Amino acid sequence: MAAVRSPDKPVEALREDRLAMLQDIARELEDDVCFPVSFDATVRIGSVLRDPAARPQQVAACVVQDPLVVLKLLREANLPQNNPQNVCLYRVDEAIARLGMSATRRLITACTVEQLAQMKHLSQFEELAGYLWQHSLRTAAIARVIAARLTRVDPEQAFLAGLIHDLGVFYLLDRVWLYPELQERPQSVKYLVIQWHESVNAILLDSLGVPEALVEGVREHDLPRPPLENPRTLSDVIYLANLFAGGLEEFRLQDMPHAAPPELALPKFQALEAEFTVACAEILATA
Ligand SMILES: [Fe+2]
Ligand SMILES: [Fe+2]
Repeated sequence: MAAVRSPDKPVEALREDRLAMLQDIARELEDDVCFPVSFDATVRIGSVLRDPAARPQQVAACVVQDPLVVLKLLREANLPQNNPQNVCLYRVDEAIARLGMSATRRLITACTVEQLAQMKHLSQFEELAGYLWQHSLRTAAIARVIAARLTRVDPEQAFLAGLIHDLGVFYLLDRVWLYPELQERPQSVKYLVIQWHESVNAILLDSLGVPEALVEGVREHDLPRPPLENPRTLSDVIYLANLFAGGLEEFRLQDMPHAAPPELALPKFQALEAEFTVACAEILATA
């Protein structure tokens, strides 16, 4: 990490930086973006792809650990030329089946090679990125259980929404090197990235072709809301899944009230905790 050279900035100046950064991001997102999410996941995906005998299920099982690769694969599978029946897919294994292994390999390889080339940016924030990567996998696994057991929300949409709900964090971590004043202050980076990721997330997901219902489902997942006893919508599911996957830490870093939300103590949710644990263990087993 670079030594601190510039004086600390007041909050107002940081807000101006935020605005400038958001304007840069909006411009940049007009092109196809790529950024690393997890070194371990990228390396694992690369090694599975190098095996010419790898089966689609094996590819799907490792790809699902990288939310950006998942979104690029789904976007390609849902393009009109690949989707003449106009059936929107939300699952990686179905996207691979639709695209075929050759096209899947080409697309994933192009993305992971670019991610590896940019990995040095993420490695400066290894601890935060690693924590949020595992948190994203946990949120996805828990969201699928909550959706299936307590709502009529499609569990696969809930899983995908959980996986991508904090993707903006990784995008921001990849861009910090462009802002030397931030790069000099890892603690500020942690604080600002958590503060800003919600606003970045919506623009980012939209640019990656994520259906509006999912973008809405993850919007404001970090904002405390009135106690939620009966989840109905995708947004309710993601709010709860984020909490049960350790989202309180995000509240704390955003200077929001972070007394334990009442949902964490509700028996109807606590009764599912054993299932949450199993679902998280499954997705984290190879992570
Ligand atoms: Fe978040
Ligand atoms: Fe989160």
